[in-house]
Amino acid sequence: IERTYFVQQLLRWFIKHQRDLPWRQTKDPYKIWVSEIMLQQTRVDTVIPYYERFLDRFPTVQALAEAPEADVLKLWEGLGYYSRARNLQQAVREVQATYDGVVPSEPDAFSALKGVGPYTKGAVLSIAYNRPEPAVDGNVMRVLSRYFLIEEDIARPATRKKMEQLIREMIPHEDAGDFNQGLMELGALVCTPRSPSCLTCPVMEHCQARLEGKEEQLPVKKKA
Ligand code: ADE
Repeated sequence: IERTYFVQQLLRWFIKHQRDLPWRQTKDPYKIWVSEIMLQQTRVDTVIPYYERFLDRFPTVQALAEAPEADVLKLWEGLGYYSRARNLQQAVREVQATYDGVVPSEPDAFSALKGVGPYTKGAVLSIAYNRPEPAVDGNVMRVLSRYFLIEEDIARPATRKKMEQLIREMIPHEDAGDFNQGLMELGALVCTPRSPSCLTCPVMEHCQARLEGKEEQLPVKKKA
């Protein structure tokens, strides 16, 4: 339902309204990767100074691969979830050893690395290499559940898979990274959990939840 409209409007909106974030100044897959790992359990405003310090100290795959783990953990202090940092360094050491420091652009190769799950795979490969891979996080599930009126429990793996499939069917291959980031950004800035800003939403006109007055009831998330 109105997929072409959704894609085109979202891209147009993202190009115009995206925040100027440090990881949007680069297409370096290593830097995008660092940003996406940091952003997984941590807010954007908190991540920014950590991202800058981390890349000042470890500007390349090689620099991070060769660093003592203690130095890496030191720069991670305050971000929490330290396994993210350990896994990232392990993965980067693998990239240095196996791929001569070049982050693999093949989805299967990249997602075989330590700490790279479906979200990280899609985010890094679409943003850095324009690979048409889905990157479904909480913001994205909220946007899709509302626009397409998906009322299934988002805690169910099957619901996430359905959303990944939907994205595969509509993601523009020329603008895969902007499309995925547009979904994330719309969820962060407009299609918020409470009191979404529907009047400034670029896709309000065909939003199925809005049409039924259900936007605040979605997404459905059952308690575990
Ligand atoms: N959250 C996760 N990935 C993000 C990105 N690339 N930009 C902004 N917020 C994000």
